[in-house]
Amino acid sequence: MDHKERLAELRRRGEQALAGGGPERVAKMHEKGCLTARERLELLLDPGSFVEIGTFVTHRSQDFGMDQRRPVGDGVVAGWGTVDGRLLYCFAQDFTVFGGTMSEANAKKICAIMDLAMDNGAPVVGLNDSGGARIQEGVLSLGAYADVFLRNTLASGVVPQISAIMGPCAGGAVYSPAITDFTIMVEGTSHMFVTGPEVIKAVTSEEVSFEDLGGAMTHNTKSGVAHFAVRDDADCIRHIQRLLGFLPANNASEPPRRVSTDPIERRDLGLATFVPESADRPYDMKDLVRRIVDDGDFFEVHEHFAQNLIVGFARLNGTPVGIVGNQPQVLAGVLDIDSSVKGARFVRFCDAFNIPLVTFEDVPGFLPGTRQEWGGIIRHGAKLLYAYCEATVPKLTVVVRKAYGGAYDVMSSKHIRGDYNVAWPSAEMAVMGAEGAVNILYREEIARAADKAAERKRRVAEYNEKFASPWIAAELGYLDDVIEPQDTRPKLIAALEMLRHKRQSLPFKKHGNPPL
Ligand code: HXC
Repeated sequence: MDHKERLAELRRRGEQALAGGGPERVAKMHEKGCLTARERLELLLDPGSFVEIGTFVTHRSQDFGMDQRRPVGDGVVAGWGTVDGRLLYCFAQDFTVFGGTMSEANAKKICAIMDLAMDNGAPVVGLNDSGGARIQEGVLSLGAYADVFLRNTLASGVVPQISAIMGPCAGGAVYSPAITDFTIMVEGTSHMFVTGPEVIKAVTSEEVSFEDLGGAMTHNTKSGVAHFAVRDDADCIRHIQRLLGFLPANNASEPPRRVSTDPIERRDLGLATFVPESADRPYDMKDLVRRIVDDGDFFEVHEHFAQNLIVGFARLNGTPVGIVGNQPQVLAGVLDIDSSVKGARFVRFCDAFNIPLVTFEDVPGFLPGTRQEWGGIIRHGAKLLYAYCEATVPKLTVVVRKAYGGAYDVMSSKHIRGDYNVAWPSAEMAVMGAEGAVNILYREEIARAADKAAERKRRVAEYNEKFASPWIAAELGYLDDVIEPQDTRPKLIAALEMLRHKRQSLPFKKHGNPPL
């Protein structure tokens, strides 16, 4: 073979790799409203930055006629590139080649990317679109999955890992995204389940559609498996890019700061009257957060799940922060099983990746009821408590209104190493609300009184006078300050700046044992 022929061979193979499963299968993807694996990566990465590895990898399977079909690349496109100039490792399963299924050979590409990400300290984004384990390869494929799961686990807390589900993701395959930090699902075209509708029907007689069982909204609203639901592939890529913009490259780096054009001293005077006079009236915690953070930009995570707690990313004077807030608009902002788990996972992510936490508190306590107790609110609630206790990143807390009961301790209180804990004058901090407390403390007095209603009212007023304020906590030093609401932004920014080089360590241990 001369030089010309060698070059022609390279080009021929390169064209085969680019062609994936061929024009018919590519057309089918487009008909479904989906992009192909390569189109997705092209959209994700800065133009011209993609460097592919394993381009010419093929499988080694001999059975079931596989020796006659050896597509170049074997159903996964993998490599690195940049997003907004920052290094990113990525892979995209190519549904047009054997349904994007996991083979021994293509898993090696995914593993190589993850090993590079670990060695060089940059995030990994996986674009999942796969029929699962490649049936023709049997246990080889299962082993390949385990190789990926192991790396997902080892990379957890070292480099950010993001999974986009852009097609099917079934069986054990779901456990790779589940271990990663964020899962994004495309509405209408993505599905995740351990066992599909047919198996479910055979085993439990339940009838359920693909969409109801494991569609994007199911996992965003019911199971909490997914953190984002997006309209289509392009929207999915935009979400990934936006998310990456808040994250450091790895656990030894700081999150990317930007120059903010939003003035530090910006005071929103509307905050002074933002909290309703009546403690029972709700307000939108997201609105409150937007009024304080840079440019009103709050990137919510888990928007549709456990909406009584809000979590997400924002910036304060250009520094990324993780926001956690009770949402009075939903279940009065009470903590329950789902919101505790949601909050705990978010707090642990931020702590692992050096992202300061800012907590906006308005919590009437934990949700009562047998469903909660039997469902394990004790151990699930403890997850959030554990996460906050363990977190060593800067922790800033604003008690906006209610801070009642155990939830007061949990929500980044001073006692669990809150760095800067302040309250608005509207704060109410006590073991429980006035009605409940009066029933316990003055049951007999109220029963004996000639005018029971008047006696109850008097006792409630007395209790509120004493406890429904921030002053006892402030006098005890459980609060660093009581601030005027419109000063919240400048005060938080000043505290964040003061804590910029915070270093705090945990006692030596192999790892803790959170109540999983
Ligand atoms: C090999 C597979 C495959 C698989 C799909 N294909 N799944 N090849 N192994 N698991 C191939 C098809 O033969 C077809 O090849 C191409 O992918 C596209 O599949 P279609 O069925 O034509 O596409 P569609 O109608 O869109 O249906 C997609 C699907 C369906 C819903 C994913 O293919 C399906 O149900 N597949 C089986 C899913 C499954 O049960 N996987 C195992 C899960 S258990 P051609 O050549 O015609 O294009 C598992 C265990 C993991 O994964 C364990 C980890 C620990």
